[in-house]
Amino acid sequence: MSENLPIENRRFLLIRRPHGNPVPDDFRLETTPLPTVPAGAFLVRNHFASLDPAQRGWMSDEPSYMPPIRLGDPVRATTVGRVHSSANADFAPGDWVMGLNALEDYSLVSPGGFTSKVDVTRVSSPSQFLSSLGAVGLTAYFGLLEVGVPKAGDTVLVSGAAGAVGSVVGQIAKLKGCRTIGIAGGAAKCKRLGDDYGFNVAIDYRAKSVQQLSAEIAAAAPGGVNIIFENVGGDILDAALMNLAPRARIILCGLISEYNNPAGHVGARNLWQLIVHRATMQGFLIMDYVPRFAEGGAQVARWIAEGKLRIDEHIEEGLENAYPAFMKLFSGANEGKLVLKIAR
Ligand SMILES: NC(=O)c1ccc[n+]([C@@H]2O[C@H](COP(=O)([O-])OP(=O)(O)OC[C@H]3O[C@@H](n4cnc5c(N)ncnc54)[C@H](OP(=O)(O)O)[C@@H]3O)[C@@H](O)[C@H]2O)c1
Repeated sequence: MSENLPIENRRFLLIRRPHGNPVPDDFRLETTPLPTVPAGAFLVRNHFASLDPAQRGWMSDEPSYMPPIRLGDPVRATTVGRVHSSANADFAPGDWVMGLNALEDYSLVSPGGFTSKVDVTRVSSPSQFLSSLGAVGLTAYFGLLEVGVPKAGDTVLVSGAAGAVGSVVGQIAKLKGCRTIGIAGGAAKCKRLGDDYGFNVAIDYRAKSVQQLSAEIAAAAPGGVNIIFENVGGDILDAALMNLAPRARIILCGLISEYNNPAGHVGARNLWQLIVHRATMQGFLIMDYVPRFAEGGAQVARWIAEGKLRIDEHIEEGLENAYPAFMKLFSGANEGKLVLKIAR
């Protein structure tokens, strides 16, 4: 190891399961020596980490598609970085890689770990493997096209519409000839829905009752909505369900309004409308589409290159700022895909 390389590893640990909103005492930044690299493994210097609402779910001990983060472990995160040292013939020091690692300076990747090489010559910043070329565009792409199956002329309602996934859903729906209604928090974000992402109608959900929201959706979609791309849940989903077109499709992608609810999941209260309109609601998980990432990624990259699709990034800096950065997802302070820059 060269003399000027750092010899310490800072790790952002989960030390207590959050109850409601995560608080700083749920986490600790610890400094440890760099791990030794056993045969078949390699050590990655993390440059960027994805901050995702899903991490809040992984902090809870609830049945899920992945085991909860163990107390005392660093917070699980998808990262992009460079191989620092390697005892694996397939990965050489200096290689750029992306994988499911953790919020820490260095991640040890065991043999068979979910990490692959990335070609940084394709991008202006490696962070783009977490934003434009990452799961954001693919979640929007496969969720909308495979579950929602939009047809030209459909009306598509998107919640969390100014966020990473929502903003891409709105743009892909437009590319497929749909009319789009976006719901977001605050006047500035609603302006961006139209200006930056081409939504036909923007609805500000803040300080509105289910009845008020429902009336605004009805005014924007008098014939009802054909597709709901749901990122938020709670009151917004309740209001959306009151405005279904016949045989509407509801893509349940996320329920962020419920993730920090200390009372637990509140549930949708207007499910009877599915019966009235013979609608379907389907849960969606991007992990199911891993075998088709190349296909979806190629189309998303093509749209970006053609100037038809915009994916914004919001970069926060420093592992020591992981907590306030992560919380921006829940205050709505992020403007685009939230990424933490770890390497100084
Ligand atoms: N199923 C999957 O495979 C999959 C994959 C990726 C993401 N997701 C889900 O997709 C959703 C969006 O994720 P993202 O990564 O793109 O994040 P994001 O939309 O970029 O950021 C989260 C946004 O959610 C909104 N929000 C937070 N708390 C809210 C509340 N209580 N009520 C209403 N809106 C609230 C905020 O926007 P406002 O300022 O507009 O409130 C915030 O900016 C999340 O639900 C996430 O879990 C699912």
